[in-house]
Amino acid sequence: MSYVLGIETSCDDTSCSILKTPNQVLSNVVSTQVDFHRRFGGVVPEVASRKHLEFLPLVVDEALREAGVDLSALNLIAVTAGPGLMGSLLMGVSWAKTVALLHSLPLVGVNHLESHLFASSLENEDLRPPFLGLIISGGHTELVAVEEWGKYRILGRTRDDAVGEAFDKVAKFLGLGYPGGPVIEKVSRRGDKDRFYFAGGLEKDRELDFSFSGLKTAVIRTRKTLEQIDEQTIADLAASFQESVIRTLVKKTLWALELTGFSTVVVGGGVAANRALREAMHAEAQTRNLRVFFPSLPFCTDNAAMVALCGFFYFTRGWESSLEFEPNPRLALGELPV
Ligand code: KG4
Ligand code: ZN
Repeated sequence: MSYVLGIETSCDDTSCSILKTPNQVLSNVVSTQVDFHRRFGGVVPEVASRKHLEFLPLVVDEALREAGVDLSALNLIAVTAGPGLMGSLLMGVSWAKTVALLHSLPLVGVNHLESHLFASSLENEDLRPPFLGLIISGGHTELVAVEEWGKYRILGRTRDDAVGEAFDKVAKFLGLGYPGGPVIEKVSRRGDKDRFYFAGGLEKDRELDFSFSGLKTAVIRTRKTLEQIDEQTIADLAASFQESVIRTLVKKTLWALELTGFSTVVVGGGVAANRALREAMHAEAQTRNLRVFFPSLPFCTDNAAMVALCGFFYFTRGWESSLEFEPNPRLALGELPV
């Protein structure tokens, strides 16, 4: 049994978690910066790194206190090394290096995308590859064949906007605020998803790549052609947009399952928090006898618990990062920081 301290600062959430191995999350503190970025309608990188610097000591203290664990009891530090915003990543990585050095602790740099795939394992200890991974976040949309941990074959990815980015942009355009995913989900509940039909992008011919910018433009164009815009119309637009996204994600996931022969899907990333998507995936899974795993809501969006688990996995396989390693904003799935 070990205690792992995880740190996540890849974008605009400052998070620290204490994991008691194999998978008991003793604490998972997330300090979101949305209030500071809201008035700009999106994440401002300079603001994000400054806020990480300010929040990190508080978030770490709270995570240790909640877990009832002292720094001296730790066995490992795991920190997100990329991909993400360089300034944000640097804050977490510098902090982790300093504490590792001061307390003579081993350090493991973690791939953020890979940690989203590990998130479901926090609550399902026996979940193992092979499976189909679906990463859906603010920066990424990827369908990936996971033969084993660390061995990834990208089957499809977005050619333009990431799915979370599409939620954020459409919400901004509809005047619903930021971040877009949760607010579109909420407004959609009182909307009619069948009022408008929006093509989901690359929906035909078993194409596994995604494209969301055409969908975003279609929503904008439709909104502009409508003469009367009331609250109900906005809700109908939001619901119809969400419906199109869900239809596309489900359809491509099923195609990818047929192609690979896998019968298990593991979903991760902020968009995985969407309840309508979760329901649609589970409904398909039931009729087709598939297994679908979604992390519970706090482990969908960026969090340090998934980072701690992923870091521990590599540590037990002999991997350790040197104190000289640099964060990499463009780290690809399957790459580890050196
Ligand atoms: O994984 P995440 O926290 O950060 C990145 O790694 O990008 O994902 C954030 C994204 C945002 O675009 C946000 O709008 C979206 O996830 N999101 C949602 C929901 N909650 C967050 N999208 C749809 N429905 C939600 N409930
Ligand atoms: Zn993420």
